[in-house]
Amino acid sequence: MSKPHWRSARASDLMAISAIAARIHPDLPESPDVFAEKMRLYPDGCRVLIADDEIAGYGLAHPWKQHRIPPLNRFLERLPDDADCLYVHDVAVLPDFRGGVARAYVATTEELARASRIATLALVSVYATRPLWERLGFQPVTADAELRAKLASYGEGATYMLRDLAAT
Ligand SMILES: CC(C)(COP(=O)(O)OP(=O)(O)OC[C@H]1O[C@@H](n2cnc3c(N)ncnc32)[C@H](O)[C@@H]1OP(=O)(O)O)[C@@H](O)C(=O)NCCC(=O)NCCS
Repeated sequence: MSKPHWRSARASDLMAISAIAARIHPDLPESPDVFAEKMRLYPDGCRVLIADDEIAGYGLAHPWKQHRIPPLNRFLERLPDDADCLYVHDVAVLPDFRGGVARAYVATTEELARASRIATLALVSVYATRPLWERLGFQPVTADAELRAKLASYGEGATYMLRDLAAT
């Protein structure tokens, strides 16, 4: 088996991305149209993991505002003109192909942010992934009432996290 690698996502990858999302996030469903919008609005942030010529995972990110969390399964409509972070919407990889791939995706996203003069990465950690994101330099943000309300749709234990690229 050759080493899995990330490449830019294409419109034709949409069904594979949706199938992986449905498998990995059965309790956080999102429609293919919602993924397609992100790929249209910000193709540079959308990548797929290729393993043995098949799509084994995806990562989706887009410019956004810090401390604002896009609701799950909703259209973004448009990207902010005054974005101050790249928001990592999701990284999901089939179990057999994990190990080093989140780190690789974040490294590419970091390069993209720097090239866009954006100094912060943001995400919502779900399940028990907080230590993994901490390992990749993200820090949990203490949520105020508004942020907590928005985090609710991401399930129990969801944590908003930021990574300051200037600090690393
Ligand atoms: C999240 C996911 C993409 C991570 O993929 P991965 O290839 O296993 O991640 P990596 O190996 O690149 O992990 C990044 C770092 O975190 C570390 N790490 C992983 N799990 C950890 C844990 N529980 N505690 C501490 N560190 C952890 C890794 O060792 C690695 O550090 P290193 O490069 O210094 O060794 C994968 O587990 C997945 O698809 N999970 C299901 C979907 C999901 O939860 N997505 C996240 C939504 S927020």
